[in-house]
Amino acid sequence: MKLEVAGLNSFYGRAHILFDVALEVGKGEVVALLGRNGAGKSTTFRSVVGLVSGRSGQVKFEGEDISRLPSYEIVRRGLGYVPEDRRIFTDLTVEENFEVGRQKPREGVAAWSQDRIYTLFPNLGEMRKRLGGEMSGGEQQMLSIGRTLMGNPSLVLLDEPSEGLAPKIVEQMADAILAMKREGLSIVISEQNLHFAKLICDRAYIIEKGRMRFSGTIAELEAHPEVRDAYLAV
Ligand SMILES: Nc1ncnc2c1ncn2[C@@H]1O[C@H](COP(=O)(O)OP(=O)(O)OP(=O)(O)O)[C@@H](O)[C@H]1O
Ligand SMILES: [Mg+2]
Repeated sequence: MKLEVAGLNSFYGRAHILFDVALEVGKGEVVALLGRNGAGKSTTFRSVVGLVSGRSGQVKFEGEDISRLPSYEIVRRGLGYVPEDRRIFTDLTVEENFEVGRQKPREGVAAWSQDRIYTLFPNLGEMRKRLGGEMSGGEQQMLSIGRTLMGNPSLVLLDEPSEGLAPKIVEQMADAILAMKREGLSIVISEQNLHFAKLICDRAYIIEKGRMRFSGTIAELEAHPEVRDAYLAV
């Protein structure tokens, strides 16, 4: 397994947010973490990458316990994270944003270059000198993903990559994630509904009120509309 999460409990102050969350991602899989507003998707991602201090439980990355490592160590091991608020540098250009994300090549992972990222996101290749702050939301989302790829991760957590994107851009994003999958990357995306996940994912988990309610294939989920209706936005 690429990523194994078990018995994860997370707290913000005294507020208990995640309850015994479990999640597994195999090598090269694209897995969805689905759930409504406030269900605990971002908290799960933040906990995995060590950004929630109040947490207990097991997080294994490539078989190694990373649950006590600081975030920079986790990222350095090849676990990439793209937060939902797209933390790009608004006063740096596209190229400069990418260079800031560059890390040394990683064994077993084809090293990313700016040129390879422009083949994933062709429109960014046409605005290499543009400032991050002068790009559309969709372009910023792509920039944010590209910058994370420059760190040569073997697994990436993408927090709501389709959020706020125009329908045409959503398709481009789905194509790019499928291309990342073809490169051998393991990917976890969070989403509020099934639409986007259906385009790219092999399997899905549903979280609600900090607890896992469903785990299975997309086909299984579609065969159980009552599960979708109970736990997802339509
Ligand atoms: N910094 C924080 N301090 C206290 N509570 C928080 C904090 N961040 C999130 N929460 C609470 O934790 C719960 C889970 O939030 P989280 O952001 O993980 O949900 P989410 O599934 O990512 O939602 P969304 O789809 O809106 O992004 C919510 O009840 C939220 O109000
Ligand atoms: Mg969130």
